[in-house]
Amino acid sequence: MEKTIGSKWRHKDLLDVSQLDRDEALHILDTAARFQEINTRPVKKVPTLKGKSVVLFFAEPSTRTKTSFDMAGKRLSADTFSLATSSSSLVKGESLKDTVLTLQAMNPDAIVIRHSMSGAARFVADRVRCSVLNGGDGRHAHPTQALLDAYTLRHEWGDLEGRTVLILGDIAHSRVARSNVLLLNLLGARVRLCGPRTLLPAGVATWPVEVFSRLKEAVRGVDAVMCLRLQLERQHAGLLPSLREYSDEYGLGARHMELANPDAKILHPGPVNRGVEISSELADCADSLILDQVASGVAVRMAALFLLITRKGENAQ
Ligand code: CP
Repeated sequence: MEKTIGSKWRHKDLLDVSQLDRDEALHILDTAARFQEINTRPVKKVPTLKGKSVVLFFAEPSTRTKTSFDMAGKRLSADTFSLATSSSSLVKGESLKDTVLTLQAMNPDAIVIRHSMSGAARFVADRVRCSVLNGGDGRHAHPTQALLDAYTLRHEWGDLEGRTVLILGDIAHSRVARSNVLLLNLLGARVRLCGPRTLLPAGVATWPVEVFSRLKEAVRGVDAVMCLRLQLERQHAGLLPSLREYSDEYGLGARHMELANPDAKILHPGPVNRGVEISSELADCADSLILDQVASGVAVRMAALFLLITRKGENAQ
């Protein structure tokens, strides 16, 4: 049965949500829902990708994305191999192009890449025969994060159609926000953005979103709030007066959630700066889905690896 769903897939790579239509996005989420059951078994391993090789090439730090891709591959019986910048020949000056051509020469079935450069995943995909999965490139895209967020909300609500989701915080530097705006719209949700003017991207007026500068107005009547991490490593000096002032104006607290719809959900892609983007009380409350997002990540990445590696005509057995 898994071959049947896999054989519908047409994309070699998963670089951004923008390449997906609604049916394809739902197909990944439905496939993930089927794989999720494996993650609850006493023996969490099936032979689906036995004999396949997946390289995890993370040139930026990661806990969730790297570990869950690794776990996803291993639970499908693929062999996974990690390459980090600090232990690679990148530190000796080898270029990204030569690095990926070297990896390709070892004939893997997929490369998962995280890189600080927007467009790095496309750069790699254009140069290798195997599938490339974008694990986050600069401020551009983080498609599996958006998919796992949608999976998590779908698990709660059944459907995202007509729901309102507020994305809060450092939108300008966030690949998570960009991929989520695309996917939430594709799945029929309404999207609001809220953050200080200095942390809104240029051109946001053309995005399919409502933009707010005051959190109390933005949060009124929403079904979910997705807080974003402050991307201090990507910010230039002077975008924020101070963390304290940012937290006072845009840190999500219980007083804000009283204005949202009853049972409104709280998400954060992690890692969380507690007390800055969100209060500890909210991060740990019953409506927080932060750890559900982490759990969803394994199933969604199992689905993504499976669909790409077994797509019809390529590597299919
Ligand atoms: N959400 C996310 O990408 O987390 P990591 O940086 O830990 O992978």
